[in-house]
Amino acid sequence: MTIAHRLQPDTRATRERRQFDIIAAIARADAGLMIPPEKAPMVFARITKRIRQLGLADAEQYCALVLGSDGTSERRHLISALTTNVTGFFRERHHFDFLRRQILPDIVPRAKRGERIRIWSAGCSSGPEPYSIAMVLLDAFQDARDYDIRILATDIDAEVLDVARAGRYGIEQLAPLPDGYQKRFLRAPHTDGPGCPPEVAPELKQLVRFKELNLLAPWPMRGTFDLIFCRNVVIYFDQDTQMDLWSRFAGACKTGGHLFLGHSERLPQTFHGAFRPVATTTYLRTPASPPEQPPRKES
Ligand SMILES: C[S@@+](CC[C@H](N)C(=O)[O-])C[C@H]1O[C@@H](n2cnc3c(N)ncnc32)[C@H](O)[C@@H]1O
Repeated sequence: MTIAHRLQPDTRATRERRQFDIIAAIARADAGLMIPPEKAPMVFARITKRIRQLGLADAEQYCALVLGSDGTSERRHLISALTTNVTGFFRERHHFDFLRRQILPDIVPRAKRGERIRIWSAGCSSGPEPYSIAMVLLDAFQDARDYDIRILATDIDAEVLDVARAGRYGIEQLAPLPDGYQKRFLRAPHTDGPGCPPEVAPELKQLVRFKELNLLAPWPMRGTFDLIFCRNVVIYFDQDTQMDLWSRFAGACKTGGHLFLGHSERLPQTFHGAFRPVATTTYLRTPASPPEQPPRKES
């Protein structure tokens, strides 16, 4: 609690502000998420559900829980509640067109020659992004599974990863699939029953590995990636976290590999020595090493 907090009378508004500050500080420290005060109603709406599930009285008790020594596992649920998981099949379709037209004609022969091809969907949410990549890949390269090609799909949120692994999606979510893809890449659900959604085909699941990973934590992956999709993720991070990530992505991407960002994300000019823009929010990893990071601002 800050001195300013202690000096204020304990009205409902000050209590709520204090609770919001606690939650926002955890979101920033644990996941790099920046939550501005105007998002307080959204934060309370999301934690209210969790408070009910846990049988707690109010947000005050919830804050005591997450701050307490037993709060570690609850903090994971909290981060899960606070993340924005909006996603979609073939979202920002121009990236998939670029993949099909500009990248696969190079990657397919390399894979056929026995090269190891690695693709990373960082912040994959419930799976449409890595499955869309897998669909385009299999469409261009039917035997992809017989070669050393894998798509790693990671997210901090264990709940969305469960949805991703199950690979079952509602009809509306599947609407953006290109012509013929529904028939080719979806299967009738294993379980019978009306309203049971279709499931992505096993050939897609075999190409994609889902893993829980906080982008702020050390990355356990060995080797570099040919393609990194990190779209609509860093937009929720503060400036220092973004700068750290650009530098780490430069280290994780092969020379000649590509980095894809979301529509409102841009790599700062200081990183254009390491990544050259080649299409909308699409960057080519050049041989230059990543630039020195500017000094961090004191917070
Ligand atoms: C808006 S979704 C984007 C999904 C997908 N990339 C797309 O563009 O459709 C953002 C995802 O980033 C994940 N995320 C947020 N903070 C993260 C972190 N620190 N580490 C890993 N994933 C994180 C969230 O859980 C969420 O699923």
